[in-house]
Amino acid sequence: MKFSTSVARSALGLQALFAGLVVAQASGKFDVLTYNVAGLPAVINGNDEPGDKKTNARLIGAAMAKERFDIVHMQEDFNYHAYIYSTDTHPVRTPTSGGVPFGDGLNTLSNYNYTKFTRTTWKRCSLNSGDCLTPKGFSFMVIPTIGFELHLYNLHSDAGDSDNDVASRSSDVDQVLAAINAQSQGVPVIVAGDTNDRYTNAGVSITKFAQAGFKDPWVDLIKNGVYPTKGATADPCPNPAPNNECEIVDKVLYRSGDSVTLTATSFNYVPQDFLQSNGSVLSDHNPVLVNFDWVKK
Ligand SMILES: *[C@@H]1O[C@H](CO)[C@@H](O)[C@H](O)[C@H]1NC(C)=O
Ligand SMILES: *[C@@H]1O[C@H](CO)[C@@H](O)[C@H](O)[C@H]1NC(C)=O
Repeated sequence: MKFSTSVARSALGLQALFAGLVVAQASGKFDVLTYNVAGLPAVINGNDEPGDKKTNARLIGAAMAKERFDIVHMQEDFNYHAYIYSTDTHPVRTPTSGGVPFGDGLNTLSNYNYTKFTRTTWKRCSLNSGDCLTPKGFSFMVIPTIGFELHLYNLHSDAGDSDNDVASRSSDVDQVLAAINAQSQGVPVIVAGDTNDRYTNAGVSITKFAQAGFKDPWVDLIKNGVYPTKGATADPCPNPAPNNECEIVDKVLYRSGDSVTLTATSFNYVPQDFLQSNGSVLSDHNPVLVNFDWVKK
């Protein structure tokens, strides 16, 4: 009796030691995908996407299940949400906030649990491009179990080219940076979503992320660290994108924390993962995949 108890105790001790080793893991890898899934009702916006939106949404979910991306940020996940979730198999998924006009279209699929999930509506919206039809904004979550505490922001900024749109987008960036400043000081942060902005735009405001210490893996890994020139003619970016060179509005931005260094190790547009069987696209946006390494300082 005594003997077996002490064996049990020492087995527990080993387990605790092992758990301690897991918690003390010093480095690791994960990937992040961002994808605007074009889930507006077909009657409002066909998103230049051939085929039936319900069928396409099921195919999007099936591709998410097949590729098993660690963290996926979706935008415009509105009226075909249930079809995506019917075929996706990620163990952790945010509940929908509703279709148009109730939801923000933002959802996250994850291989890790999250806490502290919030949705925030933009303070400002510009009436054209349908931005005020739905409560667009950003979502926030903490992933505590990836090996360190990671803060994630998913956003869908104001669309369009009018002065009012440019001002609204700038206000959106200010709002999300204020939230990061308030709740994510010193913590590793990834912002991924549809910024509706490009570095070549005359009224570009996503440059404020770089000023706040964020890196853009597309700039660092594809453009050799050189940001495209504000006001320059944009390189047209077809869908599916033939390579990683052209710029799109869908971005993954990140910064390290006080005790963890994040490094993007690869950047790719992955439209080939999200095609219909005849080669047509499933959304009017390209999906963006970034691989990360992390290491404790
Ligand atoms: C692929 O199939 C869809 C749905 O039937 C159709 O709308 C689209 O035109 C097809 N694309 C091509 C390249 O044939
Ligand atoms: C998330 O947490 C629940 C409850 O603790 C647990 O059962 C589940 O396995 C966790 N899932 C993942 C993917 O870690």
